[in-house]
Amino acid sequence: MIPYGRHKIEKDDIDAVVAVLKSEMLTCGEAVRAFEDTLSQTVSSRYTVSCSSGTAALHLCMMALGIGSGDSVIVPGITFLASANAAQYVGADVVFADVDPATGLMTPETLEKAILENKEKNIKAIINVHMAGQCEDLESMHAIAKKQGIFLIEDAAHAIGSNYISKKGDMYPIGSNAFSDLTTFSFHPVKNIAMGEGGAVTTNSLDLKNKLSLFRNHAMERDKEKIASENKNKPWYYEMQHLGYNFRASDIHCALGISQLKKLASFKKSREESVSFYDQAFSKLEYLTPICKLPSCDPVWHLYVILIDFKHIEIPREIFMQLLSSRGIRTQVHYIPVYKQPYYKDLYGSNELPGCESYYKRCLSIPLFVGLSKAMQEKVIQEVLKHVK
Ligand SMILES: Cc1ncc(COP(=O)(O)O)c(C=O)c1O
Repeated sequence: MIPYGRHKIEKDDIDAVVAVLKSEMLTCGEAVRAFEDTLSQTVSSRYTVSCSSGTAALHLCMMALGIGSGDSVIVPGITFLASANAAQYVGADVVFADVDPATGLMTPETLEKAILENKEKNIKAIINVHMAGQCEDLESMHAIAKKQGIFLIEDAAHAIGSNYISKKGDMYPIGSNAFSDLTTFSFHPVKNIAMGEGGAVTTNSLDLKNKLSLFRNHAMERDKEKIASENKNKPWYYEMQHLGYNFRASDIHCALGISQLKKLASFKKSREESVSFYDQAFSKLEYLTPICKLPSCDPVWHLYVILIDFKHIEIPREIFMQLLSSRGIRTQVHYIPVYKQPYYKDLYGSNELPGCESYYKRCLSIPLFVGLSKAMQEKVIQEVLKHVK
């Protein structure tokens, strides 16, 4: 079977993990700090707080920004469940924004529309998702958020290594927070680099970094300045003034993360080569188009999404997926609009955003990963073209 995505682990990755396993610290040790430093350098951010998953990263952002009951968070309808669920974890409401049907991304226009149509809601934050590794016009989105006094979080679970290209042509690494307050990453094995499970938040704000670190570790306050005076001099003493969680990443995971981050540039190149090979094969078809490539982004492609007019090819998507699967090719749908989930339908009733609906109807992710050979790609192309003209 050719999967739609998978990790690439080599001997040096294994050696890095084994070295930690032989060391004194399996958690809260040097590898965690080194991973955070390496990630900060990679994405040009002042601070990185590692954590146990991309979901935990989003949850930590909500807590660090003080979002809670009575607040609302804007999330694009096309994303993984976790982007929306983060708001729910802290008791906030989700406002779903539409996306560009050609990319699956929320745009400055769809964001503005969501804000305008939900004026009565207390919108506190936006979670901007960099679907498939691409990003939209971040400067415009930042300007909208600033004008409204709303926090802006980038959910870059798909986009480690991607760069935003500004209107002036300057490059800003995703995670540098040049146009946002916080950026979250996921290092689940299907993502661009793997930690097994793992995530991180980057920020340039010391205050937010301190809050993220606190909530990641049960909100155990050890800063003497912040501890009640009668306990200040007790060396064992900590205070829990808020509710926190154990969202720590272990040294074992972080050692793998450091080793994988070193390969980001070569992973990017390999993914780019695979993407252009597919692009050539799918460039002139009537009922299939690859997702639109945006001039505002220099991406590390996480997914290769094709948009197929299943009605015109007269094969339902489930049958199309089965046909490919029977030939050893796995595909996936990224994503079912989150507002269609029974949980959100029960909360907010039925919703239909036209861009999300149009994208969802047509999208299919075909295999893209480091290690996908030309022969495998040729097989995928051949099987797809058997059914789509
Ligand atoms: C866009 C997006 N956000 C958040 C997450 C959550 O990441 P994790 O699986 O590491 O919790 C994912 C994971 O699939 C994702 O795709």
